[in-house]
Amino acid sequence: MHTALKNSLSYRTIVLVAVIAGQFAISADAAELMPPAQQNELVQKYCAVCHTEAVRNGGLSLEHYNAAQANPALAAMLLSKLRDGAMGAAGLGIPDPATRDLWVAATAVQAERAKDWTVIRTEAPESKGSVFTASIVRDVAPRKRDTDAPVYRLTLACNMASHKGEIQLTWSPAPQTNRMFSVSADGNAGIPHSLEGREEKMGNGTALTTGLAAAMLNAPLPEKTLTITDVFPGETVVFPFGELDQVDRRQLAVCFPAGASE
Ligand code: HEC
Repeated sequence: MHTALKNSLSYRTIVLVAVIAGQFAISADAAELMPPAQQNELVQKYCAVCHTEAVRNGGLSLEHYNAAQANPALAAMLLSKLRDGAMGAAGLGIPDPATRDLWVAATAVQAERAKDWTVIRTEAPESKGSVFTASIVRDVAPRKRDTDAPVYRLTLACNMASHKGEIQLTWSPAPQTNRMFSVSADGNAGIPHSLEGREEKMGNGTALTTGLAAAMLNAPLPEKTLTITDVFPGETVVFPFGELDQVDRRQLAVCFPAGASE
């Protein structure tokens, strides 16, 4: 199926149907477009050189990326970058057009549920306890006509043993730098955050000053909403904590102080 699809345009229709139907087994469809092993090879070749555990360009490691267990919110970020030239960033050229399209299409299917909360539990390295992670994506209006909608991903990670928590915001496709933005839980007064430019050492050996695509947030666990304003001028993105399952919320509450509204 995969080879036949490669030489036709009909996979576009299939993706469209899969996206509209919404009820399909997501990974099965993505795997039909491109086997996870091939997606993993592409990510290793074209992306992981910079997105290593050690370097984490853009606050992201893809060193252990596994398309077979794609997290929808992460897939949405990859998709945004895949459509915005990241394939060529490693300086290795880009895959042939058919491969490119199938990679994008498979990632699109994996990203299908990115606007719902995804919760996963993983083991921290060296058995330092299990980590409970909740993530979700929101997009905002395109900044220029005829461009993709920019996406923001929020990830809350809670170490169930140490009770240490982290809230990370990432965005794509454009980086940002040297400005203040605001984080408000449940409509309370915004907590100021600053984004400072710094030189990033690229995984491919070069060093340059790029903007940032990630920030750690200092905020309580909201009941209803977490509102981020002005990462890009005049832009607001709202994450729906009211949609978080109550059981999952209690897991996260182990690591984060409750919002002031409680
Ligand atoms: C030459 C190094 C380099 C390569 C290769 C590279 N990236 Fe990145 N990536 C960066 C840097 C630096 C940033 C942060 C600044 C920015 O967004 O431009 C970033 C940001 C990102 C982000 C947004 C931040 C986040 O955490 O979500 C995503 C997603 C991403 N890259 C995915 C990819 C994918 C997918 C590939 C392969 C197709 C790739 N990158 C290849 C350096 C690289």
